[in-house]
Amino acid sequence: MTEPLLRITDLQKSFFGVKVLHGVSLTLDRGEVMGLVGENGSGKSTTMNLLGGVLRLETGEILIDGVPYNPRSPRDAQEAGIAFIHQELNLFENLSIEENMFIGGFPRLTGLPFIARAGMRRRAAAALARVRIGHDPATPLARLSQGERQLVEIARALLQDARIIIFDEPTTSLTHRETSRLFELIGELKASGIAIIYISHVLADIFRLCDTITVLRDGHVVGGGPASELTAEDLIRLMVGRSLSQIFPDRTPVEPGPAILDVERLSQPGIVRDITFQVRAGEVVGISGLMGAGRSELARILFGLDPFASGTIRFAGETIPAPEPRDMIRRGMAFLTEDRRGEGLMMEATIEENIALPSVDDFASAPFGRVDRARLRRAVRQIGDEVRISRTKDVGETPAQTLSGGNQQKVVLAKWLLRRPKLLVLDEPTRGIDVGAKFEVYKIIDQAAASGAGVLMISSELEELMGMCDRILVMAHGEIRQEFARASFNGERILEAAMWSPKTGEVAA
Ligand SMILES: Nc1ncnc2c1ncn2[C@@H]1O[C@H](COP(=O)(O)OP(=O)(O)OP(=O)(O)O)[C@@H](O)[C@H]1O
Ligand SMILES: [Mg+2]
Repeated sequence: MTEPLLRITDLQKSFFGVKVLHGVSLTLDRGEVMGLVGENGSGKSTTMNLLGGVLRLETGEILIDGVPYNPRSPRDAQEAGIAFIHQELNLFENLSIEENMFIGGFPRLTGLPFIARAGMRRRAAAALARVRIGHDPATPLARLSQGERQLVEIARALLQDARIIIFDEPTTSLTHRETSRLFELIGELKASGIAIIYISHVLADIFRLCDTITVLRDGHVVGGGPASELTAEDLIRLMVGRSLSQIFPDRTPVEPGPAILDVERLSQPGIVRDITFQVRAGEVVGISGLMGAGRSELARILFGLDPFASGTIRFAGETIPAPEPRDMIRRGMAFLTEDRRGEGLMMEATIEENIALPSVDDFASAPFGRVDRARLRRAVRQIGDEVRISRTKDVGETPAQTLSGGNQQKVVLAKWLLRRPKLLVLDEPTRGIDVGAKFEVYKIIDQAAASGAGVLMISSELEELMGMCDRILVMAHGEIRQEFARASFNGERILEAAMWSPKTGEVAA
């Protein structure tokens, strides 16, 4: 048997005396696409950070082409032919495409003789052509979409002759089209012999892309093998440790109450047009649409983050001429934005402090305004348990920065839930959250509605909307194109409505 391109044996890793990897072993061949899956906090990113030189190896061994490899920095990894495409891209907005491509890997462009510069330019252009970036390499990165930026990172990996490319949840901010382009490109990279490790919570993508799958649970490899021999149920059972009989909880029947949110003919030029809809108490209303359809923009206007030119917004019976976030929060609106990082977790503060902070006033008792700490603490812990932030960590002692990516997102969600809002606006609420925890989040959404809150839920996962919503509004090009009631949900027809284009008045190709 020939030696695989990558052999990882018995990787162990502890943070502050707590072991999070308990001996991870895996192999990867040339041209293999391996899916790496597991619940939030199972050790996927940690394993890849060891491989990518972000973390130092403690115990265990990594062989590349049979040669021991022990990176001290990301630079070492790069020299060994390992490229790591992080979820947060490592690019500089104020530099050009070309400058970004040469950063780190090559000496400064300006200091080089003309010939070398021309040669490097040619190579960069070739790499950009391979990922089909049509822009002039001198274009500032700031002008590129998220998807294009990711392609630039891949081009940089190609330029550096990467043999192994790691993708850590790469599709979370890509449009449909960009995602397809990425998948096509992964196919081409594979065909040229590059090996790929692909981390994702979207199992459909894992099955579409990967030859083999490795499943982590609590820092152990608990199973895997050729993708063709595994089903989604197998993966879920391996990840969660039990089978999930249901993806969505049964919705609690509720008789909808009065409208909590009542929007009439809301317009903002170039953003949204003539938006009219209501969310009633006890209802879960979904907004479907393609990336760029104006869904998040609409939510931002409702919350007062962006202005609107005409139309009316009524919240809990009162007309709000110019919404302002602080005031909307006080009135009982909660808004989980799609940009979880921008929401600013206090990284050094504990989980508990992060969840409690915006609610402290709610737990102050009249007349002296003293905060009932015990009650606050109980409530925080209960919410923390509900979203299953961590089975092993003490919420009162653990700083937010030590949580895995998905668990940090749950802290943000818990923060809002603690306020028991009248209207919960959720933009991509389960993005980055593992299958087991998704079910918990859905249960929380159902509970919120059952207890009389209205829920407005934006999601790119149509299944999730169809599983949870009473009604789905479909947006395209800033307009609500169609509304579907639960009884008449139809995935194909919803997609069709989402693809409407104003140019032709027809479905876009
Ligand atoms: N810098 C750190 N300090 C302390 N603990 C950490 C640190 N980084 C990660 N951990 C812990 O290591 C464990 C594995 O985390 P890791 O980020 O590898 O999970 P993951 O599988 O990538 O999860 P997700 O799907 O949420 O991204 C978690 O329990 C996490 O809290
Ligand atoms: Mg991770």
